[in-house]
Amino acid sequence: MKNTVVVGAQFGDEGKAKITDLLAHQADFIIRYQGGSNAGHTVVVNDKKYKFHLIPSGILYPNKTCFMGAGVVICPEDFKKEVDEIISQGVSFDQIRKSLRISPLAHITMPYHRAIDGWCEADLGEKKIGTTKKGIGPTYTDKYNRCGIRVEDLFDENLLSDKLDIILPMKNKELQYVYGLKTYTKEEILKICKEYKEIFTPYVCFNWQEIIADAKKNKTVLFEGAQGVMLDIDYGTYPYVTSSNPVAGGAAVGGSMGPLAIQEVIGVFKAYTTRVGEGPFITELNDETGKAIQQIGIEYGVTTGRARRCGWFDAVFAKYSVLVGGLSAAAITKLDVFDSFDEIKLCTGYKNKKTCEIIKQYPTKVATHYNYEPVYERFKGWKTDISQIKKYEDLPEAAKVYLNKLEEILEIPIKIISVGPNRDQTIFK
Ligand code: GDP
Ligand code: IMO
Ligand code: MG
Repeated sequence: MKNTVVVGAQFGDEGKAKITDLLAHQADFIIRYQGGSNAGHTVVVNDKKYKFHLIPSGILYPNKTCFMGAGVVICPEDFKKEVDEIISQGVSFDQIRKSLRISPLAHITMPYHRAIDGWCEADLGEKKIGTTKKGIGPTYTDKYNRCGIRVEDLFDENLLSDKLDIILPMKNKELQYVYGLKTYTKEEILKICKEYKEIFTPYVCFNWQEIIADAKKNKTVLFEGAQGVMLDIDYGTYPYVTSSNPVAGGAAVGGSMGPLAIQEVIGVFKAYTTRVGEGPFITELNDETGKAIQQIGIEYGVTTGRARRCGWFDAVFAKYSVLVGGLSAAAITKLDVFDSFDEIKLCTGYKNKKTCEIIKQYPTKVATHYNYEPVYERFKGWKTDISQIKKYEDLPEAAKVYLNKLEEILEIPIKIISVGPNRDQTIFK
């Protein structure tokens, strides 16, 4: 396998973790490169379901290195909970300790980051982003404002103390006067940081430069993205986005290996579209069909439990996603969800509701999205159970027609088709 990035190509929850877990089999080194515990990644092995938020989805294999890179932000409490949960599901602590490495450069989500996230969402009222309230935006804000706390800071008490003398007075002013939230004494933060240090001690990787250099030279590397291109801070439906770069470029930065280490970028698309949280969604279906997709696809958020909004595949933004996401191949997941459908629609253009003009190029000015309605091409359903099919040739003709059209529009090859949540419900094309 080439060094591959797995990128969510829509609004997240495309089934990236299933694809990562599948490809991890052929990789030695799996790197999560951005995002935090806002992600909810499901891997199903022999009908047993594992949910990951921070830990790379390759952790179920022994003898692989799973690395949480510099681009990731980590809430220590969530991390601890996740480790405990997967141990309770039968993955040994020993395996996790041997496999998992955390970059000292990763930033920490502090309790005040979560508090600020919750406050901002409440304050925005109906105009809220619909965040996961995991403190992601405020953590990245501090990172880019150069007042964040990194994993390595926890391991140097003197340095941490000096750092807190600079950042804490500023943070407390912000917490008190902007938000009216709880402020912190230096002693309180030092105590919290001591607990965090204990949580990270088995995993922090101070010799990461050696390990990354070795992986770059001698190992097959899989980069695991969280969220999706349309939630990317630069390219997504801003401001209804997350605060990091899920695009493949994000892997070059957050994965610590640079762009030349990447040889393939697999964009994961659902056969339809879903979105959690607020923001425009041109092909959204607020009808029985939308409900059917939601129910058959079991479309509920892994992190927040919120029902996902559902709609047809939007090829206008998907083409944009191929471009800015840097995709070289596609994986199409959840094709089986359409097994009982008479008809499937595919959005190939946006029609301006006032002028009736049809556009094919994705409009980045998100406020204008409400002026458009989707233009659909219709496809016949296959009305048969495809969930046990293992070979592309065995797919019904109608499914192939739909996939061929997707491939023609996206202009990249579809290399993987997923027809169920389990590892073995996968077709390699
Ligand atoms: P991620 O965030 O991109 O990793 O995706 P999530 O785990 O949030 O959501 C994808 C959901 O779809 C999970 O419940 C998966 O188990 C499930 N899933 C993945 N691929 C397929 C598929 O091909 N068919 C069906 N029916 N479910 C799938
Ligand atoms: P995975 O990796 C789907 C969405 C939130 C909200 C917006 C901003 O499982 O695909 P944030 O908490 O990041 O500040 O929220 O982004 N969001 C996701 N939607 N899947 C995810 O991750 C998401 N992570 C964040 O719902 O709309
Ligand atoms: Mg998810």
